[in-house]
Amino acid sequence: ASSETGQLMALHEDATKLYHHVLMNTEAGQSALDYLHGRGLTDETIETYQLGFAPAERLLKPFVDQRQLDYQLLRKSGLFIESQTGDLRDRFADRLMFPIRNSSGRVIAFSGRLLELMDGQPKYLNSPETELFSKRKTVFNFDLARPEIRKMGAVILFEGFMDVISAHQAGVLNGIASMGTSLTKEQIYTLERVTDQLLICYDGDMPGQKATSRALQLIGQQSQLKLGVIQMPDGLDPDEYRQKYGADKFQAVMTSAKETPVAFQMRYMRHEHALNTEADKLAYLNEMTDVLTTVKSPVELDLYLNQLATEFHVSPSDLRTQVEQSRRKKS
Ligand code: CTP
Ligand code: MN
Ligand code: MN
Ligand code: MN
Ligand code: MN
Repeated sequence: ASSETGQLMALHEDATKLYHHVLMNTEAGQSALDYLHGRGLTDETIETYQLGFAPAERLLKPFVDQRQLDYQLLRKSGLFIESQTGDLRDRFADRLMFPIRNSSGRVIAFSGRLLELMDGQPKYLNSPETELFSKRKTVFNFDLARPEIRKMGAVILFEGFMDVISAHQAGVLNGIASMGTSLTKEQIYTLERVTDQLLICYDGDMPGQKATSRALQLIGQQSQLKLGVIQMPDGLDPDEYRQKYGADKFQAVMTSAKETPVAFQMRYMRHEHALNTEADKLAYLNEMTDVLTTVKSPVELDLYLNQLATEFHVSPSDLRTQVEQSRRKKS
């Protein structure tokens, strides 16, 4: 007799194998396999992540019907969509399948990617919240990355699953991702138990930069983690960078393109505020005093205050007062 949780995990395990088999060994999976190879992923990587393909003609429901599994169990799995009349059909169709594992390495959900993007259809479709899967609590790749996070003394936060997988193939093994949202306090807590340093490596495009700025503020407020930023060149995302320049250059960027949070924010906010008018400059200084509330080292704070004071012709002590006021407002 196995618990419901155990049965749901077994069902996810079976689905993983089925989708993976379709990808690797069938005609129906050929275009998806070509797609992955086209993105430079090796069969070894595809095996490690047990990537799969859910074909357009639905497969999972007939497969589970052979096993005569309990209807309520199937409903609770999140792998099916229920019609008005209570019929179940596969949730995932015509999608590349990424199994999502919990911290013990058990598959608890899927994310499915369209091969060709279509209007009105999400690029990535995730399993719904279930007994097994909480989006807030799940850290993608944490089970594989954990030993490496410990060894490196740092975790790298990527924006997408493909970036994590791509980094892994390039030998950067301490990467994780959240589930398409900003990092939650539950995910931060999970990471804090194994490391004290987090490097944000989001996409080099504008949405990625904006998300980095936001993440620095949110995580800075919610944790004691030492933060850093890895800046992707040329507006590329990490996976695009690896595809274009290869594993060695990818590794070099991961180790050399680091920035402190304040250095990143100074650059980013400058971009946000054109700094042509007095109002722009004031808005920029206000944003920066806010950012500076997170600087713990007095020497570092002094350095930034003097830089800003010199550039904007204001007194460093007035700036300091403003940082202290803003700090009090937050605590
Ligand atoms: N995402 C999502 N739904 C979308 C688009 C994005 O859930 N419609 C989430 C996914 O978790 C995705 C992440 O946001 O991995 C980053 O989005 P994006 O940069 O657009 O995707 P990539 O990771 O670059 O995916 P790909 O390279 O496959 O296009
Ligand atoms: Mn295999
Ligand atoms: Mn992006
Ligand atoms: Mn991206
Ligand atoms: Mn991408």
